[in-house]
Amino acid sequence: MTQHADRHSTATRVDDDPGEGLFGSLVSIVRFTGELRQYYVAVIVCALLTAAAGLATPFLVGRATDLIVGAVNSGQSAGAVPMLALLAGAILVTELISTVVQNLGGWAGDVLSNRLRAILSTRYLDKLLRLPQQWFDEELTGTIIARLNRSIAEISQFVKSMSNTFFAMLLQTIAVLVISAIYYWPLAVMLAVVFPVYVWLTGLTSRKWQRLEADKNSHIDSAGGRFAEVIGQIRVVRSFVRERHELETFTDHFDRTDATTREQSRYWHTMDVIRRGVLNVVFAGMYFLIFWRTLQGGFTVGEMVLLIQLVTMARTPVEMMSWVLDTAQRAVAGSRDYFRVMRATEVYAPARMPELPARPKDAPVLEFEDVRFGYGDGPDVLRDVTFDVRRGERVALVSESGGGKTTLVNLLLGLYPLRSGHIRLDGVDIATMPPEELRRRVSIVFQDPSLFSDTVGENIRYGYPSASEDDVELAAERANAGDFIEGLDGGFDALIGERGLKLSGGQKQRISVARAMLKDASILVLDEATSALDTRSERAVQEGLEALMKGRTSLVIAHRLSTIANVDRIVTLKKGVVDEIGTPAELARTGGVYGELLALQRRGEDSYLNAYQTAQ
Ligand SMILES: Nc1ncnc2c1ncn2[C@@H]1O[C@H](COP(=O)(O)OP(=O)(O)OP(=O)(O)O)[C@@H](O)[C@H]1O
Ligand SMILES: [Mg+2]
Repeated sequence: MTQHADRHSTATRVDDDPGEGLFGSLVSIVRFTGELRQYYVAVIVCALLTAAAGLATPFLVGRATDLIVGAVNSGQSAGAVPMLALLAGAILVTELISTVVQNLGGWAGDVLSNRLRAILSTRYLDKLLRLPQQWFDEELTGTIIARLNRSIAEISQFVKSMSNTFFAMLLQTIAVLVISAIYYWPLAVMLAVVFPVYVWLTGLTSRKWQRLEADKNSHIDSAGGRFAEVIGQIRVVRSFVRERHELETFTDHFDRTDATTREQSRYWHTMDVIRRGVLNVVFAGMYFLIFWRTLQGGFTVGEMVLLIQLVTMARTPVEMMSWVLDTAQRAVAGSRDYFRVMRATEVYAPARMPELPARPKDAPVLEFEDVRFGYGDGPDVLRDVTFDVRRGERVALVSESGGGKTTLVNLLLGLYPLRSGHIRLDGVDIATMPPEELRRRVSIVFQDPSLFSDTVGENIRYGYPSASEDDVELAAERANAGDFIEGLDGGFDALIGERGLKLSGGQKQRISVARAMLKDASILVLDEATSALDTRSERAVQEGLEALMKGRTSLVIAHRLSTIANVDRIVTLKKGVVDEIGTPAELARTGGVYGELLALQRRGEDSYLNAYQTAQ
């Protein structure tokens, strides 16, 4: 079957690319944020100007030293004063320039890192919105968020410090190399050797450091994921008295990063001692060379002062290299996580709506044909599911709990690829439709109402943002929600808390019904739309739903079988396979799943009634 091949292209596996090094990461980041080019350039230019200004000072100081030595030796101190004042003035000017330029660069850097943060975050969300449902089934919300925050913080920190310091350092180093080569080549040679050796030594430590960092991050992200879950479901945590346990699990994650950090840091700093040790030896050698040459008369005292300043200047970049590399390594680890998500295979989504074939009026609107499906690599949840729904028909899905009803709804929304078979809407395979087109045609009341921390009105309007106040109110009225909404402080403008926390289960459900009513799509799916309601409210909502279902193709799922007593047909599922299809009256007689459940519910009601009457 072709669908088999499809499964691979839409698989949710995330590519892992451990091979990307420092340079690769840097290139990906810069390329990824190409629109910030002018800020990168501004920051780099400012850094270069600052560095250039910094280079002038040693020359000016060297010049002043020679002047003073000459004047003191010849006993004509007074004559040198104007020239010295001029040199001091020049130092002032270069330093002022450097101060101003540095701050300009700082401004550009702030804007850059903020833009960078915005771009990286937005693209992340944009990407997540296009990832397959399966991906979300496997990741904790909090983990996704924790990872985003960490990666982005590390990447922006790196880019900022990189553009701020790296190029300036590079310029200074090159200048120092050239100048020292002009004065005395052995100095330049020593400097030229020390740099690559240092970088090489740092690179050696990088691999192990990164492995440990990734290990640490996975703990921190898991802790973040659990954290979000615990806070989101705090009532459950409290009711089962699991606060202590949750705190311990959380602490445990961090404790485990402790050991890793110790090892990581010990390793890093040991290597740093070695690296800097080498550096210290080389620099001591350079200082000695300069002293010795001056003593031999090879340099004037001014030149000696100049060279000492230059060599000291060269120290900073070399030493900062370890800091830059440290930031860079974090960024590489961070960007690896980030780009791993960015590379995750998206849902294959056809871009254009295929032509709808001309069909007879009574052709089925919805067709399920040999649908086979299972989550991830798990067993089949549905097999050989074949049935259709005609225009305006009301079909109920019945099975025991876990029988695959909600799954079927998920498939109808195109949230998961089928293992095999087809689902057709108006004769078109939904796999060939752009998902938005498909979902625009389906209005759904979810089993779990899933509201947003917004106002009542905005929640109802979610599927139809431009709906008028009147439409919203009408929808609420029809969902039997009008009365309780009026009772809320603020009415339609009342905020309902995270996921509707401030509402009762039944209230949430009625808002979710109103939301589906307002969306007004041609296919209506009700997944336990009234399960949380008392009989009276259920009846009222049911009336609204009946009106809504009139002339609309509907798929209804309800455990309380009385609510589906007057559907046109019932499809029962048993162990993932269609068991029976027929009218409620027919299926009540056959003794299948529906018959069994019906008998059970009647008996339940009877015994309840009996108990009630006995108690009277
Ligand atoms: N996201 C998921 N990942 C893996 N397995 C899932 C997922 N969602 C559901 N399942 C499994 O698929 C099977 C069918 O679940 P489904 O939610 O479709 O049942 P249902 O008929 O809607 O049940 P209920 O009447 O209780 O709502 C169950 O065994 C369930 O464990
Ligand atoms: Mg369900």
